[in-house]
Amino acid sequence: MSEPIPAATVTWPTKDSSRVPFQVFVDQDLYEREQTTLFRGPVWNFVGVDIEIPNAGDYKTTFVGDTPVVVVRDHDGKINCVVNRCAHRGATLCFDSGGNKEDFTCAYHNWRYDLSGTLKSVAFQQGVRRVGGMPPDFDMCKHNLTKLRVETICGIVFATFSDDTPPLETYLGPRMVHHIRRTFSRPIEILGTSSQVLHSNWKLYIENVKDSYHASLLHTFFTTFKLNRLTMEGGVLTESNGGNHISWSKRDTDKAEGTSYEKSGELRAMMDDFSLADPSLLKVWGEFDDGITHAIQAIFPTFVVQQVQNSLALRLLVPRGVDKSELFWIMIGYADDTPEQRDMRLRQSNLVGPAGLVSMEDGIIGEFVQRAIKRDTDKNAVLEMGGRDVEDQQSRVSEAAVRGFWQAYRGVMGL
Ligand code: FES
Ligand SMILES: [Fe+2]
Repeated sequence: MSEPIPAATVTWPTKDSSRVPFQVFVDQDLYEREQTTLFRGPVWNFVGVDIEIPNAGDYKTTFVGDTPVVVVRDHDGKINCVVNRCAHRGATLCFDSGGNKEDFTCAYHNWRYDLSGTLKSVAFQQGVRRVGGMPPDFDMCKHNLTKLRVETICGIVFATFSDDTPPLETYLGPRMVHHIRRTFSRPIEILGTSSQVLHSNWKLYIENVKDSYHASLLHTFFTTFKLNRLTMEGGVLTESNGGNHISWSKRDTDKAEGTSYEKSGELRAMMDDFSLADPSLLKVWGEFDDGITHAIQAIFPTFVVQQVQNSLALRLLVPRGVDKSELFWIMIGYADDTPEQRDMRLRQSNLVGPAGLVSMEDGIIGEFVQRAIKRDTDKNAVLEMGGRDVEDQQSRVSEAAVRGFWQAYRGVMGL
């Protein structure tokens, strides 16, 4: 029996999650434990969209935590997810990002699996002219690929290692399900994909996603061009022990008079002397009846659904070590978009992604934290904006959703 990974020695300074020990971003033991207890534990992990693999044999490679997996559509049209590791001696099965295959044949010794991950043949199982080969009692049935449970909602595919994970819609919660159905009410199309390496612990990026307080303070572009400000009508919904949330706002409701946004020099992010040579980037249309122009939805642990005006995207964060992660973007539109709408979405996609006018800052801010906390791991982050609890907020001047992440994280990790 393998030795259990020793419990990490993180102690939380408060019962609530208004303090977060910096140690959680640098602790190697904790990172290892996250991979087994959290990512292979009772959580649903986003692994793709069904239209990425429309036909039998289509597959894509991705990750659950840092475990490589393959998502594949079989001949019955069912979507399967298996660990990208041969059951023989552990070789990687699929090296590319995707494609189409009849079956999976390992390059090393050619063991062959069907599209559900079941072992179908072992090269030279009977040896050569009955000499060599596998022992007679070798049991093919015991050497399938490791299969994950799979569920989908509106074509979004999730996988879990654990039998204890509740059904997907229960895990998401009714308001998260409602928002997903609202955003994916029409068939989507993929406009493009990209990825970027972040030199920070994965949890720093997820904190940023759940941090509705920072958007118009860190992001000069949002504030200066009045795309997203805290003076707009908006709020935060939290669900599923705080792990899932939506932060939303309505651009057309901005009432900034008499606030820091209007008082020159109060905010770093407000640059009165900035203007755009080509303002077509700011051309938008209202496409949801609820009037919401910004909605960031995070599903625990590492999946994000984004609506920034008409820029729609799915994001997956993959941990790459204790101080490194990789962020994958899938930019989407609707299959029935007009050419003008598609063009506007593509223009607005300049706001996000690796070099996005807004997202660039989200990519680097975690690294700024990672650099600064290195020698102060006995200290804590302070999360008291909007109180100390995890509950819905009528305002985005709040860190409630960040506290929600930590509440859910501590629950799963037993910390
Ligand atoms: S490692 Fe895959 S067939 Fe040997
Ligand atoms: Fe941001």
